[in-house]
Amino acid sequence: MSSTDPITALDAYEADALGAISQAQSEAELEAVRIQFLGKKKGRLRELQSILGKVEPDQRPVVGKKFNGVKTGVEGELQKRREQISRPQAALSGLDITLPGKPIELGRKHPLTQTIEEFKDIMGRLGFSVAEGQEIEDERHNFEALNIPLDHPARDPLDNFYLAAAESAAGGPVLLRSQTSPVQIRVMETTPPPIRIVCLGRVYRPDTIDATHSCMFHQMEGLMVGDSVTMAQLKTILHLLAKAYLGHEVRVRFRPSFFPFTEPSVEADMSWGDDWLEIGGAGMVDPNVLRAVGYDPDEVSGFAFGLGIDRFCMQRYNVTDIRRFVENDVRFLRQF
Ligand code: PHE
Repeated sequence: MSSTDPITALDAYEADALGAISQAQSEAELEAVRIQFLGKKKGRLRELQSILGKVEPDQRPVVGKKFNGVKTGVEGELQKRREQISRPQAALSGLDITLPGKPIELGRKHPLTQTIEEFKDIMGRLGFSVAEGQEIEDERHNFEALNIPLDHPARDPLDNFYLAAAESAAGGPVLLRSQTSPVQIRVMETTPPPIRIVCLGRVYRPDTIDATHSCMFHQMEGLMVGDSVTMAQLKTILHLLAKAYLGHEVRVRFRPSFFPFTEPSVEADMSWGDDWLEIGGAGMVDPNVLRAVGYDPDEVSGFAFGLGIDRFCMQRYNVTDIRRFVENDVRFLRQF
């Protein structure tokens, strides 16, 4: 077979053209390849066409078919390569943008947030509005106006988080509030009676951390002040709250206790199976507190309570370690 054998020449042309096409890295390079192999004027296919004319008549159908096959094949590969090159860079680097995306996981509210919202909801239905306090307090609001004298053990610097580098607007020391009770004072200082508020938030105590103690936990403070507010109302409110939150009947009992800002004072418990579970402190607002905010104890009376939110939540969901709430472990949090 001579070097001008048309079939051999077409095979050689095809191999060269396909090789050049696959080597082209840009649209400009590809266009140069196109002109070289398929160009109307000086392309290599053009040259081959002239050989075709010299083929023996009986060979023509075979060679003609071969010619057309090679031409279409090269044109097809050129088009494929053009699409590859013009696709976004990301597709070339192996990222397949046509794959389905990762499912978006819905977040959920922290169990304590859920409990706080339920408490607000229940107390709202009982006529209590929500007051906001502040987590950094001065000694007047955290202690003095609450009838907690300077020598009271609750004021021991070792039992509180004092902020060494900060001062209150009035110039005194400030601390992370150890209870939500200062909000009672802030509300009464700025609002005339009657009052019916709750305040829910964080409180801080330098306790040794274990399964039931944390240096930060949550309280719900309640305060109701007005004409002849009574302890029976206090007990009713706590009973309705516990029952609504737990979703079944519970009993609430009072044990005598002492707080400087309530008189008389009680510890409130709720029934839990055959047991009693302490839910917080409560009592009738001490006349000294009413006087400290400019109220007249002969005109108004009130009750106050402070409940542990974390403990309620642990009880309801059977959580046995308070530390779980702050570890940010989604395997735990996902359960609520
Ligand atoms: N502040 C008290 C505590 O943290 C609880 C309390 C609030 C008691 C209101 C009586 C009235 O222990």
